[in-house]
Amino acid sequence: MIVQSDFSSKQLSVSAPGKLMLLGEHAVVYGYPCLVTAIDKLLTVSVRKSTKSHDQIIAPESSDTRYVEKAIRLVRRKFPISGSLLIKTRSELGSYGLGSSSAVTVAVIKALTLWLGKFLPNKSIFNLSYHVVRSVQGQGSGFDVAASLYGGIIFFDGKAKKVTDRFQINLPISVGYSSVKAQTVHMVEKVGHLKKTRQKYVSSIFSSIASLVEKGAVALKEKNWRTFGQVMNENHKMLQLLGVSTPKLDAMVSSACKAGAYGAKLSGAGGGDCMIALVPTSSKEAVDNAIRASGGEIIPCKVSFEGVRH
Ligand code: PMV
Repeated sequence: MIVQSDFSSKQLSVSAPGKLMLLGEHAVVYGYPCLVTAIDKLLTVSVRKSTKSHDQIIAPESSDTRYVEKAIRLVRRKFPISGSLLIKTRSELGSYGLGSSSAVTVAVIKALTLWLGKFLPNKSIFNLSYHVVRSVQGQGSGFDVAASLYGGIIFFDGKAKKVTDRFQINLPISVGYSSVKAQTVHMVEKVGHLKKTRQKYVSSIFSSIASLVEKGAVALKEKNWRTFGQVMNENHKMLQLLGVSTPKLDAMVSSACKAGAYGAKLSGAGGGDCMIALVPTSSKEAVDNAIRASGGEIIPCKVSFEGVRH
């Protein structure tokens, strides 16, 4: 039994990383696997008791506080909290589609439960966070929650909602933002509609994507960047067939490859947001310039080996 006042005067901060999808988007929503990496850009949440009569959320970088509100409500339902809370968020993730919604959810749940003196296992933090993300978005595979929670590059089983393999490997990447904000829910619905109307076609694309994810995981273990790059290119073609790429993303992907990348693809739901390229160090500058020349903005980031942290 926790004595609330032992904790209420203290401020506690927790940071969670953003993510980039490496391979397997969309198919993972239907239970197939994906490879995702956490990145070295963080979302930090601090929690303390508020002097006001209601919970206060100060989130200067975001106008959408639904994830924080729902996370607080869920934790309150599980563990009674007397008085009101002051939650502040600080984000390095911008609005590039780097997983700020899942990062803020994981960070709030971890911060609040720790603040209350509860040490929940990662699986429980995952379940609570995934519940919040689903209740706001209505859908989603949970890959982003897993990346924020565990860190590193993870093989996420979309069916079991489990991390089945982890890789502490520093992938040499370049990330370009297409300057268009992607509407993830809309893109997932678009693929869902295609799946209803062309079931066999979409199922065969999903199976191909799943094979690419498996092949990518082997290449990753062997640090075989050439094969991993080819797998990325193939995955991008599959995403084009699903109708989720855009001319701008295609241009950024193909110019990155022409400038010397091992491979490249859109990353995430598509329709905008980011592309990712696997790049030999010697070609990094040329690839970044080629992405910029196609209208992309380079987002400097690296793989992060650490997940949510206190
Ligand atoms: O748009 P993002 O970066 O949140 O990625 C969405 C990836 C999907 O597979 C399309 C959806 C999901 O939840 O897995």
